[in-house]
Amino acid sequence: MCGIVGYIGGNQATPILLNGLEKLEYRGYDSAGVAVYHNNAVNVVKSKGRLKNLCDLLEQDQSVTGTLGIGHTRWATHGEPSDINSHPHSSEHGTFVVVHNGIIENYLYLRDYLIGEGKHFTSETDTEVIAQLLEYYYNGNILDTIIKILSKITGAYALGIICKDNPDTLYAIRKDSPLIVGLGKNENFIASDIPAIIDKTRNIYRLNDNEIALIKRDGVAVYNTAKEIITKNKVYIDWDITAAEKDGYKHFMLKEIMEQPKAVHNTISPRLINGQVVLDELKLSEQDLKKLNKIVIVACGSAYHVGVVAKYAIEKVVRIPVEIDIASEFRYRDPIIDEHVLVLVISQSGETADTLAALRESKKLGARVLSIVNVVGSSIANESDDVLYTWAGPEISVATTKAYSTQLSMVYMLVLYMADMLGTISKQEYQTYITDLEKLPVLIEKTISDTKSIQAVASKYFQYENIFFIGRNIDYALSLEGSLKLKEISYIHSEAYAAGELKHGSISLIEDGTLVVALATYEALFDKMMSNIKEVKARGATVLSLTTEDKIMIESETDEIFYIPKINSMMLPSLAVLPLQLFAYYIANHRDCDIDKPRNLAKSVTVE
Ligand code: AGP
Repeated sequence: MCGIVGYIGGNQATPILLNGLEKLEYRGYDSAGVAVYHNNAVNVVKSKGRLKNLCDLLEQDQSVTGTLGIGHTRWATHGEPSDINSHPHSSEHGTFVVVHNGIIENYLYLRDYLIGEGKHFTSETDTEVIAQLLEYYYNGNILDTIIKILSKITGAYALGIICKDNPDTLYAIRKDSPLIVGLGKNENFIASDIPAIIDKTRNIYRLNDNEIALIKRDGVAVYNTAKEIITKNKVYIDWDITAAEKDGYKHFMLKEIMEQPKAVHNTISPRLINGQVVLDELKLSEQDLKKLNKIVIVACGSAYHVGVVAKYAIEKVVRIPVEIDIASEFRYRDPIIDEHVLVLVISQSGETADTLAALRESKKLGARVLSIVNVVGSSIANESDDVLYTWAGPEISVATTKAYSTQLSMVYMLVLYMADMLGTISKQEYQTYITDLEKLPVLIEKTISDTKSIQAVASKYFQYENIFFIGRNIDYALSLEGSLKLKEISYIHSEAYAAGELKHGSISLIEDGTLVVALATYEALFDKMMSNIKEVKARGATVLSLTTEDKIMIESETDEIFYIPKINSMMLPSLAVLPLQLFAYYIANHRDCDIDKPRNLAKSVTVE
């Protein structure tokens, strides 16, 4: 979740690095820095805080000139945010300078060894160990030295390296942390993410694990750790540049909320052919399905909340038992997994460390892994047996919205695909679902078109410091997401509860003026939700309800209401989540929060 940019070419590197880092700040931003080669030395300028601090420093220090450079924005993992812990990190004698995204798991051992060998360290970071190791083993052949140190370190890393003895080459290495090479004309780039360089080139190589790129001004050679040349396929990125910019919205989050009709359409339409869900990318046969004892869903954060919806949907429609777990728990609980289990992994970034580790644990135990991922060629995608890509496009805002919605639509298609294969629903039921699926983008468009009423409600409650979300069945699954959206961007304390669980303790928290968001879209339990609404009202709560547009009787029982169009119960979350996203957004906006880059958060948590 740090940002890496590198440049080698004929132009000054610093402005190119800063431009790229600005596009990556969402990935991590408690410090930033650049290193540029000039006259047999590498100048390093770095500082704690936002990228602007670095830009101000570089304004004052015009000595940072040169046409080979690397840059970095950091989300601290080892070593608190500080100037000295910022990247890039240099070896003791300045021979090597390194930027890094990931974690070196054995860095303490290596650091102690190098100190014992007389090396002096300046920072507390694991990254400095890489620079010092390179200098310690340096024998004049840089590629050999890199291969040597890679055999010493364990962990995850995307590295950009400059060696002051060779100003004609930029070095890049990838293991378990994404890194791309941008291919220009007599200039080349590296980046941890596409938006950093998309305005410079659309032609890239995606580095795979244990690949080492030697990047010159006029060409790129990629090696494996056996020093064999690797042939790379050039990938053309057809994203609009505006897709990575704000497109006129105040925040990426609002832009991405408004992109949901298109994102869901782009995800569904290629897979709906003549009224059938067609998942050609899936190699899951009827026999494979029939031999399953269970499906286990593993993810983190909002992706996990999609998984909770998926559990209800799969068990209700496909009738296969489903377990669900957050990845950071799954990976350490000795899960009961074997070849009769399908593990469904859900991830926007495809790089979340806990989720990737859970995937690897599942494969080690013999399970087949199917993943739903938004980033093509990401680690989770590459290591899955089957991948269903969501075509949400780049999601920049740390708080996920369009990726969440496209994941939901992917789940519905997977459910229908499996139910059709196993015959657990009639052809007529199947067609009803398909008709709703085809309507989904339009219904999403309709639901987000009226933001005024949501803005009005948000303006009444943005100063509240505790807000509860309650719901039953898929409304409970949704309350988890509604609560997370609110707390992660507005910093308001919020909890999600199964409405039936309130009476077992949490209801003691309800007092005069407590705001309770009651989700009551699930028809079969609507009356029970009405009882829960009365239950909290009786204790002084202010209730904001969210229900379908036919349930006007709820108006007599609640203080505020968001309505959504009717649709089959499985797909209700795709509509009900929208007012919750907008509610959270407008509240955070009223509170002047840093909505796209909330404090302490990063877009992709690529470390434990
Ligand atoms: C959601 O708004 C958060 N950004 C976070 O919970 C996120 O969903 C989680 O970190 C999982 O990320 P992934 O989907 O990229 O794996």
